[in-house]
Amino acid sequence: MLVLGIETSCDETAVAVIKDGQKILSNVVFSQWVHKKYWGVVPELASREHIKIILPLLTTSLEEAKISLKQIDGIAVTCGPGLVGSLLIGLCFAKGLSYSLGKPLIGINHLEGHIFSNFLEHPELLPPLVSLIVSGGHSTLVYVKDKGEYKILGRTRDDAPGEAFDKVARILDLEYPGGPSIDWIAQECKSEGVRFPRAYLEEGNFDFSFSGLKTAVAIYLSRLSPQEKEKQRACIARGFQDAIVDVLVDKILKAAFEHKVSQIAIAGGVANNSYLRERLCSEAIKEGLKLYVPSPILCTDNAAMIAAAGYFHLQRCEKSPLDLNAYPRLSLEQRV
Ligand code: KG4
Ligand code: ZN
Repeated sequence: MLVLGIETSCDETAVAVIKDGQKILSNVVFSQWVHKKYWGVVPELASREHIKIILPLLTTSLEEAKISLKQIDGIAVTCGPGLVGSLLIGLCFAKGLSYSLGKPLIGINHLEGHIFSNFLEHPELLPPLVSLIVSGGHSTLVYVKDKGEYKILGRTRDDAPGEAFDKVARILDLEYPGGPSIDWIAQECKSEGVRFPRAYLEEGNFDFSFSGLKTAVAIYLSRLSPQEKEKQRACIARGFQDAIVDVLVDKILKAAFEHKVSQIAIAGGVANNSYLRERLCSEAIKEGLKLYVPSPILCTDNAAMIAAAGYFHLQRCEKSPLDLNAYPRLSLEQRV
């Protein structure tokens, strides 16, 4: 069974073809650089970029997969959460294909797609598990009871971790996107780094909050001269990164313990962070947990993960109607 995946929920336009839910035949991602000078995604620009690139991307994806459009058995498309204008581009495109080819359409929750990035890459991974989705727009801790059965344990109350990385990188005069820049420069710090507060919220709470940390970095920087800022940049980056990673690691371990699972997984752009991966890897060994992490191309937004989730739902004979809408605030626990 060949499933075409389409993802346009934010600033990545992506088209992929996967075979039998497991084999990636093509996975083409276009990251929109138009937002770079604004230090964040501009929704209207994102929609316009999606419109321009989606058709050429489909052609490239089919060529790479060495198949024709007629061979596709089903079309999976992200229908939320995300930017409404961006979601609508992918959705309308997918509906057109579904209608003209006479092939089933399935709307996929973007966060379920991220969860499936680990199922796609690690076929041996079977639920139950605890999964942490960390990106520029999300910070969601999920108990995956089974494929398709999710319980949200916690989410961010303000900034997502990727958003905090991007904002702090900006005040540190680093490059956009901020996550990779901070990850990189933090490795130059040869001390413990500057100590910043960790926001744990109330005991037993799995929600996250990162905006206070961002403010703490801004206040710290406001007291430094330009020379001191330059001198301390790497250790400020390291201290900030440590504060985020400490909270993420602590909460995923506690959630695994509370839900008596032996497997944990991370996904989303921030899952590329080298310190997060390193810390989770050593803590998982210490706690006797098995850690699953997707390779970098499957961490950031992509359509292979959407096609993988689509395959799962199509196999269960689920399909979406052609009047399927875009849901900017779609919850993982909600089926459309
Ligand atoms: O999943 P993604 O590609 O798109 C969203 O759905 O947001 O994630 C992008 C986010 C950006 O905020 C970027 O700064 C962050 O992931 N990111 C990282 C790293 N690589 C990307 N954050 C920390 N460390 C990294 N190595
Ligand atoms: Zn994402």
